[in-house]
Amino acid sequence: MSARSPLRLAVFISGRGSNLAALGHACRERRIGAEVALVVSDRPEAPGLLIAREWGLDARAIPWPGAARRAEFEQAAAAAMAAADTQLLVLAGFMRILSEPFVAAHAGAILNIHPSLLPLYPGLHTHRRVLAAREREHGATVHFVTGELDNGPRVLQSKIRVRPGDTEASLAARVLATEHVIYPRVIGWRAEGRLQWRAGAAWLDGAPLTEPVVERFDA
Ligand code: GRF
Repeated sequence: MSARSPLRLAVFISGRGSNLAALGHACRERRIGAEVALVVSDRPEAPGLLIAREWGLDARAIPWPGAARRAEFEQAAAAAMAAADTQLLVLAGFMRILSEPFVAAHAGAILNIHPSLLPLYPGLHTHRRVLAAREREHGATVHFVTGELDNGPRVLQSKIRVRPGDTEASLAARVLATEHVIYPRVIGWRAEGRLQWRAGAAWLDGAPLTEPVVERFDA
């Protein structure tokens, strides 16, 4: 790892926080050159906030004021990010859609993880839909966030096989385990300066990523 100072992360969550925990471990164990400088939840009761507080992180609930007043949430979140001097916004199970002006103001500095092989299955209930369509493969995607839902430039995908007998729960658990590997990996690339955002595209190691990098987990 280089001698750069750690990349300061803001992590937005809405629920369980297992990706936040995976990221927190990767930072604490210095597997990646980043630190969680701020955690924001739109739900005060989110279990992920408890994890963040146990770890002594700057963790704030900014209750969702309703879609019509989204700007109030975004103003408060942006103020918290500025106060914490964060450099990258990591959406980790954050279940709200950020406005185009907010996303534009942080262009190239917001990542998301989505539990499907995007562009397949944007939106909710991905595991259920994958089983219903009898897909043979499934996985998760880390991508930059743009104004279009689940559709920004893709960086890294995990791939697993769908097994005969898989249920929504078994599939979700296997995909989630891969998320905990690939999200810290991408943030590590960003911290090392390997992953960049240029003119609306993701670049890795000096070349544009026309397709995401793929990591197989049960080849
Ligand atoms: C993950 O499956 C993530 O891909 C999706 O929401 C879920 C969040 O889980 N965006 P957790 O809160 O990180 O445990």
